Amino acid sequence: MYIKISNVSKTYLDKGREFTALSEVNLEIAKGEFICLLGPSGCGKSTLLNAIAGFDPPTRGEILIDGVKVVKPSRRNVTIFQNYGLLPWRNVLRNVELALESRRDIPAAERRARAQRYLDLVGLRDFADRAPHQLSGGMQQRVAIARALCAEPEIIFMDEPLGALDALTRMKLQDDIRELQRSQNKTVIFVTHDIEEAVYLADRVVVMTPNPGKVSRILPVELGPGRDRASQDFFRMKEKILEVFNLREKYNIEYAI
Ligand SMILES: Nc1ncnc2c1ncn2[C@@H]1O[C@H](COP(=O)(O)OP(=O)(O)OP(=O)(O)O)[C@@H](O)[C@H]1O
Ligand SMILES: [Mg+2]
Repeated sequence: MYIKISNVSKTYLDKGREFTALSEVNLEIAKGEFICLLGPSGCGKSTLLNAIAGFDPPTRGEILIDGVKVVKPSRRNVTIFQNYGLLPWRNVLRNVELALESRRDIPAAERRARAQRYLDLVGLRDFADRAPHQLSGGMQQRVAIARALCAEPEIIFMDEPLGALDALTRMKLQDDIRELQRSQNKTVIFVTHDIEEAVYLADRVVVMTPNPGKVSRILPVELGPGRDRASQDFFRMKEKILEVFNLREKYNIEYAI
C-alpha cells in the first residue's frame, strides 16, 4: 500500500494534562486516490494531515509512505494551506517559481518555463505580472495550486483550501482540483468539514468524529467522475455520511427525485 497509517495516536500536553487529539487511526491509501478527511472542528483532521505530511509526528503508531517511515516533510509532497501562503512582494509568476527555488539542478530558464506552464494550467497566464493582492481570493488559491503542482509532487495535502471562498468560486475550483488530480494521477489528501465537498471530490471519505478524534467510518464514493450534485445517488451518499454523525433524523434529507 502506498500510504499506510497504523495505530496512530496523538496526545498534546495542555496545561499539564494530556489531551488526546487523535486516537488509534488506521488507514491505507492507494497511489492516485483522492481522499477527503471529513469531520467537525476539533476532530483532528489537521493533526492527522500534519502527521502524514511529516510536520508533526504522531505520539504513537507509524506512518509509511512507499514503505518509508515519515519523520519529516519531504520534497516529494506538498501542502496547500487555507491562507494560500503567497509572498505579497513577489508577482504571481515569481510566487510559482518559489516551488523550484531550491532546485539548483534545474536551470533558471527551465524553472521559469515550468512555472509558466503551471500558471497556464490553472488559467492565470495573463496574470503572471500581477501582485497577489491584485487578485481575487479564488485566483490566489489557484496560484497556490500552480505552485504546489510546479514542484511535481507525488502527494498533495490540502487543509481546507477552499474554506474562505464564495460558493460559486469554490465549486469551480473543486472541478479544477479534481480535473488536475485525474489528469496527473496525483494522490490527494484533502481536509474539509463540508459534506457536499467531500462527496463531490473524494474516491473515499474518511469520516472523523471528535472527543477523542478518531476515524469513525471510511466510505467509498461510488459515483464516477462526472458527479451531479442534484442526483439521487449524490443525496444518498450525503445521507450515509449524516448517519455516521447521527444527524440524519435532524436534517431529514429528502431525495431530490
Ligand atoms: N498544539 C496543540 N496543543 C494542544 N492541543 C492542540 C494542539 N493542536 C491541536 N490541538 C487540539 O487537538 C484537537 C484537534 O485539532 P485539529 O486542529 O487537528 O482539529 P481540526 O479537525 O483540524 O479542526 P478545524 O476543523 O477547526 O481545523 C483540538 O481539540 C485542538 O484544540
Ligand atoms: Mg484544521
